[in-house]
Amino acid sequence: MTEDLFDLLIIAWLALAIVLVPVQLRITAPYGRHVRPRWGPTVDNRVGWIVMEAVSPVVFAAALFWRAPPQSAIVWVIFALWIGHYAYRTLIFPLRLRTPGKRMPVVIVASGMLFNTVNGWANGYFLGVLSPGYPADWFGDPRFVIGIALFVSGALLHIWADHRLIALRAPGETGYRIPRGGLFERVSCPNHLGEIIEWTGFAILCWNLPAAAFAVWTAANLGPRAWRHHQWYKDRFPDYPRRRKALIPYIL
Ligand SMILES: NC(=O)c1ccc[n+]([C@@H]2O[C@H](COP(=O)([O-])OP(=O)(O)OC[C@H]3O[C@@H](n4cnc5c(N)ncnc54)[C@H](OP(=O)(O)O)[C@@H]3O)[C@@H](O)[C@H]2O)c1
Repeated sequence: MTEDLFDLLIIAWLALAIVLVPVQLRITAPYGRHVRPRWGPTVDNRVGWIVMEAVSPVVFAAALFWRAPPQSAIVWVIFALWIGHYAYRTLIFPLRLRTPGKRMPVVIVASGMLFNTVNGWANGYFLGVLSPGYPADWFGDPRFVIGIALFVSGALLHIWADHRLIALRAPGETGYRIPRGGLFERVSCPNHLGEIIEWTGFAILCWNLPAAAFAVWTAANLGPRAWRHHQWYKDRFPDYPRRRKALIPYIL
C-alpha cells in the first residue's frame, strides 16, 4: 500500500470517529451498566472482554513484524507500551472483574474486535512498513518526553480508577455504589479520563497519523460514555455529589 493511500484511509477513519460522536451521545454502547435486551445473542462478560481486547496486540505485533523485526529502539519502546497496555486490558482487567452472571452482546464483542483490528493494524503497519523512522535523539525530543509522561500518568490513573471501581463490590455482588476518594471526588469517570490521557500521550510520543487517529477514537468513545455514566449516576443516586463532573474536573 502506498503512503498516500494509507494516509487517506486513516484520515477517513479518524473523521468517522468525529462523525459518530453525536450517535455515541444518543446511543450508549450496551455493555456494563448500559446493557439492554434486544441487542441479540450474548456472551459471558469476562470472556467478551478477553476476546475483543486480545485482538489488538496480536494484530499490532503481526503488522509490525510482518517484514522484519524493528531495528529502532524507539519502535521497540512503542511496541512495549502497546503490549503493556493490552496485557493489562486482556488479562489483568477481565480476570479481576466482579461481574458474576453478567453478559455482553456479541455485537459489542464483534465491534470491539473490528475497532482493535483497524487500530492495531494501522499502528503496527505504519511503524513496521511505512514509517521513515525516528531520529537517533528522539528519546530526548520534547514530544517523546511529554508523550511518555502523559502515557504513564494516564495509565496509572486509569488502572487505579479501574481498581477502585472493581473494589466497590464484594465478591459475588453485582450492584452499584457511589465511588469515592481521589479524583472520583471531582469526576465520575477518572478511568476514562486516564485512558484518554494515556492514548493522547501515545500519539504525541509516536507523532504519526495512526496513533493520532487512535487517540481521537478513544476520546470519541469514552467522552460520550463518561457523560452517559455521569447522567446514570445522577438519575440513580439522589445523593450523588452535585459538584462532581463527568470527565474533566471543574469543566465537563
Ligand atoms: N479505548 C477505548 O476506546 C475504550 C472503549 C471502551 C472502554 N475502554 C476502557 O475499558 C474499561 C472499562 O470501560 P467501562 O466503560 O466498562 O468502565 P466502567 O463502566 O467504569 O466499569 C468498570 C468496571 O467497574 C464496575 N463498576 C463501575 N462503576 C461501578 C460502581 N459505581 N459500582 C460498582 N461497580 C462499578 C463495572 O461493573 P459493570 O460491568 O457491572 O457495570 C466494571 O466491572 C475502562 O478502563 C475504559 O477506559 C476503552
